[in-house]
Formats: sequence, structure tokens, C-alpha cells
Amino acid sequence: MSIELPLENAPLTQLQQTPIDNVLNIIDQGLVHLPSYRELFYRWERQQWRAEEIDFSPDRFQWEKMGQQERQDRLYGLSAFFRGEACVTDTLAPYITAMPDEEMRIFLTTQLADEARHTVFFARFFKEVLGIDKTRLEDTLDNIRQYMNKHLQYILIDSLADVAEHIRQEPKNLDHLIEGITLYHVIVEGTMALAGQRGILEFYRQNNLFPAFRGGFTAVARDESRHVVFGVKFLREMIQRDAANARVVKAAIDKYAQVAFTALTPADENIPDILAMQQDPWVSPRYALDSLRKKIKVIGLSMDLPVVPPPPLF
Ligand SMILES: [Fe+2]
Ligand SMILES: [Fe+2]
Repeated sequence: MSIELPLENAPLTQLQQTPIDNVLNIIDQGLVHLPSYRELFYRWERQQWRAEEIDFSPDRFQWEKMGQQERQDRLYGLSAFFRGEACVTDTLAPYITAMPDEEMRIFLTTQLADEARHTVFFARFFKEVLGIDKTRLEDTLDNIRQYMNKHLQYILIDSLADVAEHIRQEPKNLDHLIEGITLYHVIVEGTMALAGQRGILEFYRQNNLFPAFRGGFTAVARDESRHVVFGVKFLREMIQRDAANARVVKAAIDKYAQVAFTALTPADENIPDILAMQQDPWVSPRYALDSLRKKIKVIGLSMDLPVVPPPPLF
């Protein structure tokens, strides 16, 4: 029998079996006792993993046996993540330059390496399991855009790039950086990605789907827990330094939160079918709303948030 290591240093084989809620709890614990930026850096040093070492052959075997409809369903869920990882890799660099403190800058360099690793992990999965392989990575990423709804495209492709460009042009303008961290770390990572990851990993675990992918994706979630805690800590400190910064965080949440919840909600035409199967179409946006609420509280704000429907009564 293999020995279980703490989640902190668990290898990929163990992460395959780890319930995603155990990983997501790290974030809640981190929000109770916010670690220092240096501690987050040390966690990164302890939590290395290799996208190269994953053997995807059991996943490939499952994919080959799937019908057309199931393949489509898997593609819709996973494409937003693959493309999203590439978008966050491409847009983080200006944030590093603009960070006001050295310890913040040092941590963010680790995040840039993480996001690149996440992109490579997905590129391998799409090529070796799903068989989507263009010569250039850019062409693969263009190809999967068709599987993202327009709200996902607005947040992950357009908004992340726009805000990063503002930061690049005016790195000393703290408002741009605060809007950027609110969008990138709180909305994209701390709200949308957490809800999406949880939905996908729970479904895969219950159905014993894609075991090799699950190990890597759980390692991705563990990395994201460091990123989200960094973002919340940064915004909290910016507001403590100058209360006027709260206005910028609130404006960014007002601007992006509703679109983020809509992006996670199934299309209107699919909702009757989902209800007919006695499933809850709003489980992901509701989880996302709860996640956002927790982060806002730790940042030190109180504000109204969009409404997500309650669970249906069957
Ligand atoms: Fe990532
Ligand atoms: Fe991240």
C-alpha cells in the first residue's frame, strides 16, 4: 500500500485520487491566515511537478471509445481552460514589471512559469488524447476558440489582453494594476477557474474519466490556490495603504462579475434539457458567486453582487 503524503507535497499519482474540494480548501485556509509573499514563493518551490512526465495512454484509450456527442461535451469544457491558460501566460509579464514591491515581483515570476506549464500540460493532452494537433501551438489555440461561448471570449481573450496592455503602457498607474489583479486573480482565477475546475474534476472522478488528466489538473488547481491567495492579499494591502483603491476594485468587480457568471451558465436553450435530467444548471455560477463573496470579504469590501438562481426543487 502506498503512503499518502500531505497535499502540500503530493505527487501526481496521488493527486489523481485527491477530491478537488481538498485542494480548494487550501484557498479558504490561506484566506483565514494570509501567508507572506515569501511563504507563497517557498510553497511554489515545494510544489513542483512536470507536465512532461504524465503518461496519457489510459486517457487516450477512453477517448477512442467515446461517441461523438460525448467527445463534443468534453471539448466544450476543456477548450476554455486550454485557451485560458495560454491567455494568462501571454498577459502576466506587464504585471511583474508594474508590481510596487520586490517580494510581490518575485512571487509573480513563479506564477508566470506555472501558467506556461499549465499551457504545455493542456497542449500535450489536446494532442495526445484528443488528437487536436496543428503544427504551431497558435493554430491549435485558434482552432479551439469555436468551443468557447462569447462571454468566455470577452473575459479570457479580450479583457485580459486589454488590461495587460494598459498596464504595459503605464506601469506606474496603480489603478490599471489593481483593475488587472481584480480581473486576473479574483475574477478569472478565483471565481471562474475554481468553479470550472471543480465541476470538471468532480464529474471526471465520479465517472472515472481521464485519470492521467485528473492528476495534472489537480496539480494545476494546487498552483492556482497560490495565485488566488496572492491576488487577494495584494488587493487587501492596496486598500489598507490607501482606502481610495477600494473604488477601483469595486468598479472592476462590477464590470466583470456578471459576465463571468453568465459565461459559466449553460445556454438558455439547453436549460430545459438539463432540468429534465434533474440536474442543476446553475451549480457552477452559484459556486463561483460563493467563491467571489469569500474573496471580497477578505479583501475588506462589502458590496452587492449579481444574483444567481437558487437550486431547483425536483
Ligand atoms: Fe493556470
Ligand atoms: Fe493561475
